[in-house]
Order: sequence, then C-alpha cells, then structure tokens
Amino acid sequence: MHRTLLPVVALLLWAGALDARLLSTPIPTTTASLGFEYHDDSVRALHLKFFDHLVEQQVANIFKLVLRGAYEARQRHQKLEYTHDHPRHERPVVLDVGMNSGFYTMLSASLGARVYAFEPQVFCVGIVRDLIRTKNLHLAPLIEIHNMGLGTTGVVAVPKRSVCDGHFGTDGIPAVEDVEDLNEETVAIPIVDPQLLLPLWFRNVTLVKMDTEGAEADILKHLLPFVEAGRIHHIVVEIMPSQWINRASSLNAGLRTIKRLAALSKRVIALTDPRVITGGVPRADTEEIGGPTYEEFDLEGLIRDRHERGGACNVWFSFV
Ligand SMILES: *[C@@H]1O[C@H](CO)[C@@H](O)[C@H](O)[C@H]1NC(C)=O
Repeated sequence: MHRTLLPVVALLLWAGALDARLLSTPIPTTTASLGFEYHDDSVRALHLKFFDHLVEQQVANIFKLVLRGAYEARQRHQKLEYTHDHPRHERPVVLDVGMNSGFYTMLSASLGARVYAFEPQVFCVGIVRDLIRTKNLHLAPLIEIHNMGLGTTGVVAVPKRSVCDGHFGTDGIPAVEDVEDLNEETVAIPIVDPQLLLPLWFRNVTLVKMDTEGAEADILKHLLPFVEAGRIHHIVVEIMPSQWINRASSLNAGLRTIKRLAALSKRVIALTDPRVITGGVPRADTEEIGGPTYEEFDLEGLIRDRHERGGACNVWFSFV
C-alpha cells in the first residue's frame, strides 16, 4: 500500500469501528436484508450515497421503531398478520418530503408502509422510479412519487441535468416563486400547499421524514394544522435555519413554528451531531436509535446556533 494512503485508511477504519461501537443495531451497507436494492454503481447519486453515516442509520432505526410499533398495534387490535397483500387503508402512512435518492421511501415501503414521496428534482425522481421499476418492483404498489415540493404554493426552477444534491436555483437555494433562474437548463416545478393534497389526509400519517435543505420551516408551518388535529404522529426533520430565509421563511417565523411543534410533542429528541448541542444537554443514549441522542435540550438555542454558524441538526418530534 502506498504510504501516503495509510493515514487515510487508518482513519476510515477508525471511523468504521466507532460507528460499529456506537450502533446497537447497525444497518448493513447493502440493503438486501431490508428487502430492497438501493445501491447502483452506474448512477452517481446512488454510487456515492450509502446512507451509512451514523445520523442516517439513526433515522433508519427510527423508521423501524415507529413502523414496527404501528404493525404491532395493528396486530394486537385487529389480530391481522401483516403482509404486503393488505389493503392500503390498513397500512401506516409515511410522507417522505425531500425524497432525494429514495432510500427512506424504499425503506418505508419495505417495512410495509404506504409512502407518498415529494421531490422537486427531476433527476432524483427519475433514478428512484428506475430503481423501483428495475430492482424493486415488489414495492411499486406502495409508493407514490410526486415530482413537486411542498410549502407555500409557487414555482421553483430545478436543473434538468443529472444532479440529485439538493442544490438548485440561485446559488443553489432559490426563494419560492423566484423563477428568474428558468432557462434552457432548468425546468419549472410546482411547490404545493399540503392542504391541497386532500387524498393524503383521509387517514393519519404515521411518520413524516423531511430533508429539504432549508425549506422545512415553510413546510412545517403548513403541516402544523395537521399536527394540531392529531393527524401526524411523528416528524423526523433535518433543520437548516441559515437557509430558511432563502426558502420562504424568516428565522422568527421558523422558530415560532418549531416551538409550537415542540409544545405539541410528547418527546423531542435531537440526533447525533458532530457539533455541540447548545444549552447544557443531558445526553440520553437511546439504545434502539443507536448512538448518542439528546433530550431536554435548548431547541431554540440549537436553532439559533445553527442559524449563526450554518449547518444543520436532526430532530425527532413525537406527538403520540
Ligand atoms: C388518528 O390519530 C389520533 C391520535 O392522534 C387517534 O385518536 C385517531 O383515532 C386516529 N384516527 C384514525 C382513523 O386512525
């Protein structure tokens, strides 16, 4: 081995060992054992993303916890054995907002949920549809993909070219309704108020996963009435406050929404974070999530910190 590579390899091995030590239930890099195929060397977005970072594994573990709970409750109350043949209305419902390359959409369907996925980027939608059609056809009946964003109704310009990285529009992050970036390399994609998507709301939504590079403050504001009505049971969200202003929300409006969500929550858990979680956080390692998590932390302080320093944090709100 070339000697200059040794430190790099050692670091990778160390990082791998650290992950393995922290995780009680590590999710394998290959997803075969989860019942779907994700990885594809021929597609760049799927080549680079294994979803094996600790925080991604924690999110995947939350899906398993929440959706497993839904099956068990159903089995207890209805004495039904869970299979993919059950009609739609008996399944937990997942909204995957910011589907990206589809890992959590396919994971949810593989766990038996009915999934509604939202993704403005046309290339992401294409690769996930291909993955389902070519490798995961058994999941197709459970997944509905919408090539749109959620939030304050408007239009956004996204690239036609083959990228699936969340960066689109002016400097990567456009304001909603800012279509100055529409040109021959982009395509106009609608942003739709979730209240207009009525068929989704005939039933409760078990889990909303949101990873939207700053659009979450605006989207959460529109989901708040459903949370208040008890129709959404869990939200796992990547919060990126420094980008709120570029995606239809001010810092204060976003803070108001998130404080209201926290007030409605039975539990608020921050997931693992390479930066310090501000506010004198007691750390509660929740074995089932795997790795460090934080409760009773200063949520506003955390958001203000990320607003000033940039970057993101991941929070799980439980309303049931
Ligand atoms: C929806 O969830 C609420 C709890 O938040 C529950 O009281 C209600 O029965 C649920 N409705 C259905 C149709 O499952």
